[in-house]
Amino acid sequence: MIQKSFVMMKPDAVQRRLMGKVLSRFEQKGLKIVACKLIQIDEELAKTHYGEHADKPFFPGLVEYITSSPSLAMVIEGDEAITTIRKLVGATNPLEADLGTIRGDFGMDTGRNIIHASDAPESAEREIALFFNEDEICDYQIVD
Ligand code: CMP
Repeated sequence: MIQKSFVMMKPDAVQRRLMGKVLSRFEQKGLKIVACKLIQIDEELAKTHYGEHADKPFFPGLVEYITSSPSLAMVIEGDEAITTIRKLVGATNPLEADLGTIRGDFGMDTGRNIIHASDAPESAEREIALFFNEDEICDYQIVD
């Protein structure tokens, strides 16, 4: 089933100039980038996006980090995109993520883990609507 997922390169990916390398993983796989923007996330948006973690001890640090510098917000489309992207991204803790995954190859720290990707169709829908207007999501043909 064709799905859309919300994917976001976090401040560490942008600041470490990893955007191109990470983006190419999704393109190489055969996924389609249908929306993409560099965004300075404010405290309100960070707290809404990560609301499910509000009572976790790492929450204040997570909000501080995600608002510290711009992130690259994207909508990525493809067959079973949500699961496929989670596999490409790897485990939350980069030290536990398999080599060959984005977090496994580029990260060392759970608090600076390069990238976020929706974990289910419901969260994808919620996160896409939080970060993008409908007219920012493009529809186009891939030419191979
Ligand atoms: P993400 O997939 O964006 O979803 C929630 C984020 O919380 C997660 O990536 C990590 O960046 C962060 N996170 C999860 N667990 C911890 C932790 N134990 N310490 C710090 N940050 C964490």
